[in-house]
Amino acid sequence: MPKPPARPPLKQRTSSRPLKRAGAAVMPAPKPAAPPLIVAPWPDAPFTAYLAAEGTLSDLMRELGDDVTAVYDRLIVGKGSPRAAAWAANVWQDPRVLMIASIGDGVRQLKAIQRNWALLPFAHHRRAALIEEQLPKVSSKPVVFGEPAPSAPLGSWTLLAPDLILASPTCSSAFRHGEPAFVENRDGPPNRAYLKLWEAFTVLGVRPGPGDVCLDLGACPGGWSWVLQGCGASVIAVDKAPLDLAIAALPRISVRQQSAFALEPSGVGHVDWLLSDIVCYPERLLRLVQRWLDAGFTGKCLCTLKFQGETDFAAMAAFAAIPGSRLLHLHHNKHELTWVRL
Ligand SMILES: C[S@@+](CC[C@H](N)C(=O)[O-])C[C@H]1O[C@@H](n2cnc3c(N)ncnc32)[C@H](O)[C@@H]1O
Repeated sequence: MPKPPARPPLKQRTSSRPLKRAGAAVMPAPKPAAPPLIVAPWPDAPFTAYLAAEGTLSDLMRELGDDVTAVYDRLIVGKGSPRAAAWAANVWQDPRVLMIASIGDGVRQLKAIQRNWALLPFAHHRRAALIEEQLPKVSSKPVVFGEPAPSAPLGSWTLLAPDLILASPTCSSAFRHGEPAFVENRDGPPNRAYLKLWEAFTVLGVRPGPGDVCLDLGACPGGWSWVLQGCGASVIAVDKAPLDLAIAALPRISVRQQSAFALEPSGVGHVDWLLSDIVCYPERLLRLVQRWLDAGFTGKCLCTLKFQGETDFAAMAAFAAIPGSRLLHLHHNKHELTWVRL
């Protein structure tokens, strides 16, 4: 297969130099002699692109460390194969560079790879929009909770220069830029925290069901308890504050109005899911989780790590080191991560 002309590597980022935007980082593209039909990795060494969730660019930069080679708004290009990156909303796992001779050529090259694409707006917006208009329409209907995440591959692409598309047919998220939207329920839950749990269960493809016992720590006012109960599970809702009365009155919900940190695992009975949305420092939550694990808890865990001010990377690493677990940033998380062990 013919190779597009060699291109200079992306500029290296150094800690002492401010980040360059794409316009500066991408060298002018030499015009290909004929429209290339194929895509080629660029630079030659494997690379991955990581899309930072809104407001998490500096956290993702720090997480990727020396692997970072270039930054285009929220999109970070990093050396090597895809790696765990909790602050990434979406990982472009198989990025390619398409050198395009025209708008039509860009459309043709993207369509030749696969059907479904999501444009990440970056630069050359008019030209990018003209390409996008000619690509097949991809449904972006909000998800009804309970439906599985879309199974059709959804690629991501962006126009870095007028003749240069960065595109990845394979991405970590089934949702456009890792941002699932839901048909919201404005009547049942007492707040919008339920969306975090809806999102987690949808992207992870697992949720509690009838017969499961969920321990909901920091449950007040009751959004998560409402979700868990709605899944058919039994809920033990623990909070120092009182649960919303309508939630507390639902079948299969029992309330313990006390500190979650004073709860002894041996005094709770069988638990299938340990969930926490407690407002506390992550290191305190880590001690709580560790106490449950040390007591022999083998069920599933889903906990929000809430960072107040600076991100606690040491606590992040300690959570990530718990066998069988992972950290992820949900679209509905704020300056938070969700730690799961399934
Ligand atoms: C963000 S809210 C939780 C929202 C909840 N997940 C929902 O869906 O409605 C955080 C909760 O942590 C609770 N909290 C703080 N310290 C706590 C403690 N020591 N024990 C139990 N709950 C605590 C607060 O009272 C507050 O209700």
